Amino acid sequence: MSYFEDFLPGAGRKAPRAALDTDARVIDLSGPWRFRLSPTAHAPDFADPDLDDTAWELRQVPGHFGTPAYTNVRYPFPIDPPRVPGENLTGDHRIAFEAGFERAVLRFEGVDSCARVWLNGQELGYSMGSRVPVEFDVTLRPGRNVLAVRVHQWSAGSYLEDQDMWWWPGIFREVTVIERPAEPIDDVFVHADYDHTTGGGTLRVEAGEALLTVEELGVHDRPAGETITLEHVEPWSAQHPRLYEASVSNGHERVRLAIGFRTVTIEDAVLKVNGEPLKLKGVNRHEFHPVKGRALDAETMLADVLLMKRHNINAVRTSHYPPHPHFLDLCDRYGLWVVDECDYETHGFQELDWRGNPSDDPRWEQALLDRMRRMVERDKNHPSVIMWSLGNEAGTGRNLAAMAAWTRGRDSSRPIHYEGDRACPDVDVHSRMYASHAEVEAIGRGEDEDERRRAMPFVQCEYAHAMGNGPGGLAEYQELYDAHPRCAGGFVWEWIDHGLRHDRHGYAYGGDFGEVLHDGNFVCDGLLFPDRTPSPGLLDLKKVYQPLRFTEAGGVLRVEGDTAGLDLEWCVEADGVLVDSGPMEGSELKLPAGGEDERWLTVRACLAGDTAWAPAGHEVAWHQVRLTPGPDRLAGLTEGAAPAIPLFERVTPRLELWRAPTDNDQGGGLRWHWSHHGLDRLTYRTEQRQDGTIVQRVAPAATDEGYLATYTWRETTSGLLLEADLEPVGVWKVPPARLGLAFELPAELTTVTWYGRGPGEAYPDTGAAAYVGLFTRTIDDLQTPYVHPQENGQRADVRIAVLSTPRGPGVKITGDRPFGLTVRRWSTAELDAARHRTDLVAGEKVHLIVDLAQHGIGTASCGPGPLEKYRLTARPAAIRLLFEPVS
Ligand code: GAL
Repeated sequence: MSYFEDFLPGAGRKAPRAALDTDARVIDLSGPWRFRLSPTAHAPDFADPDLDDTAWELRQVPGHFGTPAYTNVRYPFPIDPPRVPGENLTGDHRIAFEAGFERAVLRFEGVDSCARVWLNGQELGYSMGSRVPVEFDVTLRPGRNVLAVRVHQWSAGSYLEDQDMWWWPGIFREVTVIERPAEPIDDVFVHADYDHTTGGGTLRVEAGEALLTVEELGVHDRPAGETITLEHVEPWSAQHPRLYEASVSNGHERVRLAIGFRTVTIEDAVLKVNGEPLKLKGVNRHEFHPVKGRALDAETMLADVLLMKRHNINAVRTSHYPPHPHFLDLCDRYGLWVVDECDYETHGFQELDWRGNPSDDPRWEQALLDRMRRMVERDKNHPSVIMWSLGNEAGTGRNLAAMAAWTRGRDSSRPIHYEGDRACPDVDVHSRMYASHAEVEAIGRGEDEDERRRAMPFVQCEYAHAMGNGPGGLAEYQELYDAHPRCAGGFVWEWIDHGLRHDRHGYAYGGDFGEVLHDGNFVCDGLLFPDRTPSPGLLDLKKVYQPLRFTEAGGVLRVEGDTAGLDLEWCVEADGVLVDSGPMEGSELKLPAGGEDERWLTVRACLAGDTAWAPAGHEVAWHQVRLTPGPDRLAGLTEGAAPAIPLFERVTPRLELWRAPTDNDQGGGLRWHWSHHGLDRLTYRTEQRQDGTIVQRVAPAATDEGYLATYTWRETTSGLLLEADLEPVGVWKVPPARLGLAFELPAELTTVTWYGRGPGEAYPDTGAAAYVGLFTRTIDDLQTPYVHPQENGQRADVRIAVLSTPRGPGVKITGDRPFGLTVRRWSTAELDAARHRTDLVAGEKVHLIVDLAQHGIGTASCGPGPLEKYRLTARPAAIRLLFEPVS
């Protein structure tokens, strides 16, 4: 058996230690390396420093090689541990460098999946564990040194790395050469506690024989290892990430530290930091870039942190492996609570009913402990890290217990998390994923199965699966987290779509690289689109996570929460047009009197000054109150000859009961039910009645389920009035997707202006970010670019819509009740048929759908469907719509 098919994680490696910011010389080997690809692990020798590699291609390190392949749960190779297939793509990498020093450590931040390393022809060893660092002690030569690294796509370690993401080998994080002085500071362990009852801190920095200095705290050259009691320190929190610059020095080496004081406790089943109950408003973050894969650059990491802070996210679970170490520096500096997760998942053993699962097989114990140690040792000095997670979806077993026991022994200051063992024997928090609202409520009330769990805080390590359109139900989860003290909040799944840039498809997902086994677009389930544009889901989450609460009582609006650093302003709009505005003084505002028209008061809380993460003026929170209901918009119409309406013809709408299923509709089984019941293949039988009304029976073949739609067109001096009445017929067994009136209009129309909720899309259980106002968008901009096309782009609660061309003329549509507005350049069937955005081609018509109702979105692509109150039933509905020329 080869070294990469061994249960042991490596050989020749240095013991794990903290990531340190040293004044020793560091050479970053990022850049072009010589590279040779072989189809199997048995490539010709290449470690000889004198080998002529000039004909080899140049390839960027950090980076990936080979073709990405996506599976969620299933291993893309036979389960035969620790063996791997003979088809094992192998990348040989070589680089020459000059150092100017002799004693050094060679450090790899991340190599997927196994690296074997030679320096100047001498083998140093090998290592598995893709997303944990590994180091080798080396002696360098004066002049040219040649480093040779052989990387295998598959190794025994791959069995421990079955995370739901692209499989993609490579030296995907930096390789550095770190000078070691005669007497190095090899490791540092900072213990910095905060006592919220006194405001004092306790500091102990383990660093061997060295001296500690923290200028700001008056600590000068104190022996490392001493416990220093500080009468007053400012604590670290995600909201106020106070760091103290410090250093330890032994005369040979100086290490800079950023110390944050904070204490994590669990009291009466409540998770607390610095004595305050913690509510995690979190996201699960994979490392992803649409071109670079997991080889993230510093700008992308910063972009993630800034985007999180700007969307009111205060916590990250590093699903499902330790992130690039720089990301944690940013979390310390900008303020995010972190659950740091070990690079460990064996979900594919589920296919074998967990037979032979590494979590319970002693032969894997060393490999698992090694991963845990490499994470804990590397990251132990980050104040942002408040919990260690043993891994994800790795079943149960003794090795998890060993990982937890070792961690507790090494660092008792942080609770331990692992979701995969429902009995929770080794952890400190009760964690679940995708629990329904009802389950969260029950757990919130303390109705868990046993006493052990009842004594723990509850965390949803994953909830609200952000795949495609959605997630629905965010606001209701937050209400539960807020209502129950033991609910410590949770982490939305997940931060970003892993769609890879692709010439033909725009963004590729599973199957687009010819994988035999794959899980399609399940890899695109993020709050950000692959290019990091926020999706409507992220905008909703920002609103739901906003740090202020607004309540109304007795004609007064009250703001609760910390408004320090925020400017609050109010404005009143009538039909979307500004009437009055002013600053809000204090925390209360008397609601102004209304008028005849529809009036809304909006309060906005924006940053008063620049912060590290957003400029002054950035909106943090908002709230809207309806002041007056406004008039009946269709009152007072006069019968008479209607004026001509540009670009609009009086034709009978088609009733649509189906939508292009969302990922959530698909996951919840609705796509199947809707097709089975024929909502995607309706037939229309039309009768013209003598009184001018048109009655249409709209129903699919093979059932009696359907709708009777009655339409009456009336001429008024303002325009054409359509009265639509919808009555279900037969016995309905599924919820209709929608009650939508579809119209075909000329393709010349380009622009939509509406008064209703916007500017983004909204469905019954999504759209927290959508407020009432007057908005204009082009038809193209109304489309939400979900990587896998599906229902999208509805604007909710629309009272008035105007469709026009760049020249102006067009049609104005006014409802006697708010309606859902969808305008696109393809039909529902075309939208459904598309697999990628690039399949959607503008047709010869503009398709307008006026929805009287739609079924909720939910989050059943992984998790519960829409809450009962958002489910559509086959019920009667009616609307009156006035079509007028645009004046
Ligand atoms: C969870 C898993 C995640 C992801 C998610 C679905 O079960 O922990 O890694 O697969 O489901 O997207």
